[in-house]
Amino acid sequence: MSHIAGIGSDKLGAGRSTRRALLLVVVLIVAIAATGCLAKSGSYAPIDWAAEMHYSQSYRAQEPPRLSSPLGAVPFKFASDTRELTREPAIGPGGYSALTNPVTRTAATSAAGAELFRVNCSMCHGTEGLGDGRVSAFLLAYGSAPAANVTGAGTVSRTDGEIFELIVQGGATSTLLGMPAFQNLLSPSDRWLLVDYIRELQGN
Ligand code: HEC
Repeated sequence: MSHIAGIGSDKLGAGRSTRRALLLVVVLIVAIAATGCLAKSGSYAPIDWAAEMHYSQSYRAQEPPRLSSPLGAVPFKFASDTRELTREPAIGPGGYSALTNPVTRTAATSAAGAELFRVNCSMCHGTEGLGDGRVSAFLLAYGSAPAANVTGAGTVSRTDGEIFELIVQGGATSTLLGMPAFQNLLSPSDRWLLVDYIRELQGN
């Protein structure tokens, strides 16, 4: 009797561990699927506001192959490399506010600033900077602050350096929610063109 019961409980044990293994598999599948809903890294926005073509496997397959350097090649250019994005000096918190805008406004700088704003900012801040871009509603729905009205008194009273810093850092170090960091996306001269264009939108 006890022998049969023993077999029975063994079977019960086996059934339980199979169920547990199945549950684990299901939980894993759900967890992996759920990561697909997360915003891409590097963004402080709660939604992926700038999907890029190379996210897609079908596009990735068509990207040209990257050539690797020849065997034994030694890098020699980097010490004097002056590329803006990689060689930008680190500025500590607060160090930005003293920076002055180097842009002297001409029709060309104004047009360049407008184009940069249209491509990088208007989806959230709206074409006139009023904070009424179409993505702003999504930011609100996902628990972020709506995009700011950059023509309002709050931004007017900031220094050029402070606006420059907000564009660099986004929500990374400031209290701004949902504002992406453009440090690695826009060169310093592009950012200054944008600061100047925001001043223009403010009527200055
Ligand atoms: C994904 C949407 C989004 C994009 C794209 C975006 N912003 Fe923002 N931005 C925000 C949000 C949201 C805030 C306000 C956050 C808050 O109030 O906490 C903000 C705040 C700001 C502020 C601060 C306003 C103030 O004085 O407090 C500035 C300046 C600004 N953005 C400039 C820009 C510029 C320039 C670009 C383009 C290079 C840009 N933003 C792109 C969402 C965005």
